[in-house]
Amino acid sequence: MNKKILVTGATGYKGTVLVPKLLAKGYQVVAIDTQWFGNFLPQHENLTVIKSDVRFTNDIDLENIDSIIHLASIANDPCGDLDPKLTWEVSALATMQLADKAKRHGIKQFIYASSGSVYGVKDEEQVTEDLSLEPISEYNKTKMVAERVLLSYADDMAVQIVRPATVCGLSPRMRLDVSVNMLTMQALKNGKITVFGGAQVRPNIHIDDITDLYIYMLENPEKTSGVFNAGFENISIMDIAKMVQQKIDCEIEVTPSNDPRCYRINSDKLLATGFKPNKSVATAIDEIIQAYQQGKLTDEDRYYNLKWMQREVL
Ligand SMILES: NC(=O)c1ccc[n+]([C@@H]2O[C@H](COP(=O)([O-])OP(=O)(O)OC[C@H]3O[C@@H](n4cnc5c(N)ncnc54)[C@H](O)[C@@H]3O)[C@@H](O)[C@H]2O)c1
Repeated sequence: MNKKILVTGATGYKGTVLVPKLLAKGYQVVAIDTQWFGNFLPQHENLTVIKSDVRFTNDIDLENIDSIIHLASIANDPCGDLDPKLTWEVSALATMQLADKAKRHGIKQFIYASSGSVYGVKDEEQVTEDLSLEPISEYNKTKMVAERVLLSYADDMAVQIVRPATVCGLSPRMRLDVSVNMLTMQALKNGKITVFGGAQVRPNIHIDDITDLYIYMLENPEKTSGVFNAGFENISIMDIAKMVQQKIDCEIEVTPSNDPRCYRINSDKLLATGFKPNKSVATAIDEIIQAYQQGKLTDEDRYYNLKWMQREVL
C-alpha cells in the first residue's frame, strides 16, 4: 500500500503544485484546506479533497495517515495583521493541536512550512539556522512559536521544519503578491514596475524547488530532521526589477518604503544533505512571461492574498 500523506493548506499556491507531484509519485493524498482562494487541484483516484479548517482538529481524520505536510496558515505579514487572533489560532494553536493529535495516532513524520522571515532584520551576511529569531510581524511570531512547539515533539516523530525564502514561479493557484511574480506581472501589464525602496535584500526559491524539497524531506526523514533554511538567491528588490526589465521593455519607478524587512539566508545545511535546487528566479520570470503571453495567466484579485482576504474571507 502506498503511503498516505495529509497536506494542509493543500489548495494554496504551494499545495497546488505539491499535491500533483505527490500523486505522480504514487502517494495517496488527503488535502485539507478552507479553500479561501479556491480549489485548482486536479481530480485523481488517490486524492481526497476536504474543505475544512485546521482549527477544528477533532474533524481531522488521521486514521492510516503516515505523514503530515503542514502548509495551512495566514500566509503573509499584512494578512497576519488583519486579525491577529485568527493568525495565532491558525498558525500556532492549530499546529500544536495537530502535532498533539499526530503523536496520539503514532504518526512518525511532521513536515512544517515555517518562514525565512522568522529571523527578522539581520545584518549578518550569512543567516544560518543557529542565529537568534527576532520576528517582527504577527505572521513571523506565530511561525517562530509553532516551530518551538513542534520541536517539543521531536522524540515522538521526525519533526522537519523548513524556513523557506519567498517563493516565485507559476502555480495553478497563483500568487501575485510575492515579489518576483508581482514585479513581473506589473511589467507585463503596465509596462512599469513600482519598487518600494528597492535596497531590501530578500532570499528567493522557485516553487518547483520548494515543492521538490517537501518531497525530498518526506523521503529522507533521517537526513532532514530539524530546522532548515531553504533559499538560494539573495537578491535586492531593485535587482529583481532589473532582471525583469532585461526581459520586458518597462520602466522602473522607485518610491519610499517603510518596510524594514531585509534579510539573507544561507542554506548550506540543506545543501549538505544532498538536496539540489534545479530552478531560479530567472526561470520563474521566463515561465511567468510565457504563461502570460500564451493567455494562460491573467491578473486576478484572488492572486493577491491581502486584497482577497479583506474582500472575501474576513
Ligand atoms: N509563498 C511564500 O513565499 C512562502 C514563503 C515562506 C513560507 N510560506 C509558507 O508556506 C505555506 C504555504 O504558503 P502559500 O504561498 O501556498 O500560501 P497560500 O495562502 O496560497 O496557501 C495557504 C493555504 O492555507 C489555507 N488555510 C489558511 N487557513 C486555514 C485553516 N485555518 N484551515 C485550513 N486551511 C487554511 C488557505 O486557504 C490557503 O489555501 C504557508 O504556511 C506560508 O506561510 C510561504
